[in-house]
Amino acid sequence: MDRIIIRGGKPLSGKLPVSGAKNAALTLLPCALLTDEPVTLRNLPRLADVDSFGHLLNQLGVSTMIEGARPEDFGRVMTLRAGRVTSTVAPYDIVRKMRASILVLGPLLARAGEATVSLPGGCAIGNRPIDLHLKALEAFGAIIEITAGYVKASAPDGGLPGGNYSFPVVSVGATENALMAAVLANGISRLENAAREPEIVDLCRLLVAMGAEIEGIGTDTLIVHGKPRLHGATYAVMPDRIEAGSYACAAAITGGDLELVGASAEDMHAILAGLREAGVHIEEKRGSIRVAADGRLKPLTLSTAPFPAFPTDMQAQFMAMLTLADGASVLTETIFENRYMHVPELARMGADITVNGRTAVVRGVAGLTGAPVMATDLRASMSLVLAGLAAQGETQVNRVYHLDRGYERLEEKLQAVGADIERASDG
Ligand code: UD1
Repeated sequence: MDRIIIRGGKPLSGKLPVSGAKNAALTLLPCALLTDEPVTLRNLPRLADVDSFGHLLNQLGVSTMIEGARPEDFGRVMTLRAGRVTSTVAPYDIVRKMRASILVLGPLLARAGEATVSLPGGCAIGNRPIDLHLKALEAFGAIIEITAGYVKASAPDGGLPGGNYSFPVVSVGATENALMAAVLANGISRLENAAREPEIVDLCRLLVAMGAEIEGIGTDTLIVHGKPRLHGATYAVMPDRIEAGSYACAAAITGGDLELVGASAEDMHAILAGLREAGVHIEEKRGSIRVAADGRLKPLTLSTAPFPAFPTDMQAQFMAMLTLADGASVLTETIFENRYMHVPELARMGADITVNGRTAVVRGVAGLTGAPVMATDLRASMSLVLAGLAAQGETQVNRVYHLDRGYERLEEKLQAVGADIERASDG
């Protein structure tokens, strides 16, 4: 199994390219199921999760073709075509490995009138039910049955009528599934308290490019006028705000100076505000963001919440950064109940963190020391990489497959800005 080995203590500097957003890619890919015409996605990140999603779509009858990908390029272009949907089943084996597979439910139901998708079950960061996905689809007229670990959704003869649904809790995935189902419904659908993450805006933009009619894009009330059919489109995936935020933390924790090329400040207000409050210098440029730090960091009080507030996907990376702040920070996780799995590993590197329920108190220490560590999820793994970049001595981050799910060529990007980091393989 691969490991990442880091010899820390070097300030990072230079230009670092930001890839296409993983979470946007995972909701744009299933849109190919909504039309028999080709959908071309540009700036798709080269990530294990994107490959897995492509394989799932292949099993449903979608052809995928990758164009002109040279090994040295970041990102790639993929053309997907669902001339005919040949299967409406997303099996346990795939959904278990990648929760985002649930995002084929809405589009399959809309296009083929039925979908059978394995229930994803819990995951390392919490229980993560899909009840809201199902309730929204039911409100649009779907018939939902749960048997033998699978959700079977079907539309009445003649297709989904469409309808209204108000989410009791903001859910990114449920909003995405509902939107992808509503665009082909017979009537008008209205979603209230919808998620308004930038990835949802990206999804709406692709759907509109495919001929969908959606009002309220970027707000928490979305009105979808269903269309009998959608057509193909070419669309570029938005930049990854979480990848950009993670590398901003790398500049901050090493006292470095990075230009994040392609990052969009518009999508990152809460992240950039947090960095500024911690004393990090942020310069918003055209097409990039410069992040510079002098090695001194101020403590923060932060709470995760749906967009536009501070994202749960940045909590672990900020925590790593704040282990070296001058004072005590208080972080509260309100989205997922079990998202502090990185705390004991950071503690093994010398961090001083106390968790009480959903709140973590991080008391800044003078320095971290390298250690062998491992994490149970993607962002937690990144927090250990960040700690390793600042620590004295050698850090080995195990279970690299988590990082490969969400960071395109992590070690290459970090090496290019001066990090002493490499991948080692046991096999
Ligand atoms: C997405 C992102 C993930 C991010 C999260 C929150 C993708 C592929 N993943 O996950 O990186 O951390 O948004 O920004 O885009 N909930 C329910 N019932 C449901 C659905 C959700 O109770 O049917 C709860 C969840 O347990 C959680 C909260 O709602 O507490 C928010 O989850 P949600 O926004 O749905 O997260 P995902 O879409 O799974």
